[in-house]
Amino acid sequence: MNILILNGSPSGKNSITLYTMLYIEKFFPDHTYTTIHVGQQIRSIEKDFTKSAQALAAADLIVFCYPVYTFLVPSQLHRFIELIKEHGVELQGKFATQISTSKHFYDMTAHQFIEDNCRDLGLRYIRGLSADMDDLTKASGQKEALDFWRFVEWNMALDQPDEDLTEQAGSAGRIALVTDAAEGSKLSEMIEAFRAASAQKVDVVNIREFPFQGGCLGCFRCAADGTCIYKDGFSSFLRDNIQTADAIVYAYTVKDHSMGSRFKMYDDRQFCNGHRTVTMGKPVAYLVEGDLSEEPNLMTLMRARSEVGGNFLAGIADTDEKIGSVAKTLEYAIENAYQPPKDFYGVGGLKVFRDLIYQMQGLMREDHRFYKKHGFYDFPQKKKGRIAAMYLVGAMMNSPKIMKKIGGKMTEGMVMPYQKVLKDAEKKRNQK
Ligand SMILES: Cc1cc2nc3c(=O)[nH]c(=O)nc-3n(C[C@H](O)[C@H](O)[C@H](O)COP(=O)(O)O)c2cc1C
Repeated sequence: MNILILNGSPSGKNSITLYTMLYIEKFFPDHTYTTIHVGQQIRSIEKDFTKSAQALAAADLIVFCYPVYTFLVPSQLHRFIELIKEHGVELQGKFATQISTSKHFYDMTAHQFIEDNCRDLGLRYIRGLSADMDDLTKASGQKEALDFWRFVEWNMALDQPDEDLTEQAGSAGRIALVTDAAEGSKLSEMIEAFRAASAQKVDVVNIREFPFQGGCLGCFRCAADGTCIYKDGFSSFLRDNIQTADAIVYAYTVKDHSMGSRFKMYDDRQFCNGHRTVTMGKPVAYLVEGDLSEEPNLMTLMRARSEVGGNFLAGIADTDEKIGSVAKTLEYAIENAYQPPKDFYGVGGLKVFRDLIYQMQGLMREDHRFYKKHGFYDFPQKKKGRIAAMYLVGAMMNSPKIMKKIGGKMTEGMVMPYQKVLKDAEKKRNQK
């Protein structure tokens, strides 16, 4: 396969992000990888786009590889996208994905920007990897990079015209499908189509039928002793029937720009779990009856909920055509325990809760225990070595003499730990 990497970092070969791609290349050597250093060479590319156009035309998969810059991508990569459009390069039907590094500050707007532009260009977009800039130096980040690549290759194989999504062999695992669908409705048909396309056992839980005594009253009784003031059995129903599933699918009809008040009641009553992300690691998906192109807030809500909960969002099917691929992706996520890193919604959201629960630990005892157990309290930052190193770098940068000497070599120093990761990976591979 021909893979074209668009390296959007102005650091060029010393891009931290590019190292994630280089790491992947070490483990998947059977492809042809070509890189255009868009971030460094945009001026010459602007003058002559011929080579870039040829490389784009030859690619089976285009990887947008960039650092997040102020909510979006570096201007140089933005300009490159403009040039693709200005030159009318035909990319229809090719695959595309993205890899970014950042501190997760508004990484999801950058990813959405790339996804939206891929759609403009007729590219078949595969959800990308948003890594923290330190991730590749850790075993967990290295695993996430390789898992991501397997997911990309799986998607490309899945998207072959002869792939029959309706034939299912049956697979381990159970999906809890939570819905408020009325009998005979269009949504019920979507649910049946999903069941037919799913390899897993699908248990439908219709919240229309659940004898709720009412919506959450905000009494905080559950925060104190873990029990709900209502005696309608919802908490144990939720814990025994829904949270025990391997994946959760929500099926609803868009009502008043939301999932409707019945679903809202279901959501609010989940406060019996406090702020504990009890289904962390389990994938989720949505079946939606309604026009989501008119519902940007609802889209944000579904994405943010999954990110904060630590659930991989396997897909949102708002048309019959999408149901099969959502079912397949969910199956892949269950079987491979696919769990990409969180984006700003998840990282930022959890920091807000982290501060809240820490202050309220006397009352929210269960939450506090959970947050301690799962290492959510990542403060105070006890990284003394790193802080000291940054003081040293800061002091050096204050000296015009030293700056003159190391001026252009800053990025070289920054990628040294990543170079070591690559060398170690090579060693490991040669030992096999
Ligand atoms: C101009 C500029 C803007 C940045 N904006 C963001 C941002 O909005 N969000 C974020 O999390 N990181 C931001 N960063 C940090 C970079 O995304 C991060 O350092 C990245 O890992 C650098 O990757 P590279 O070595 O591939 O260029 C910014 C850095 C620069 C220089």
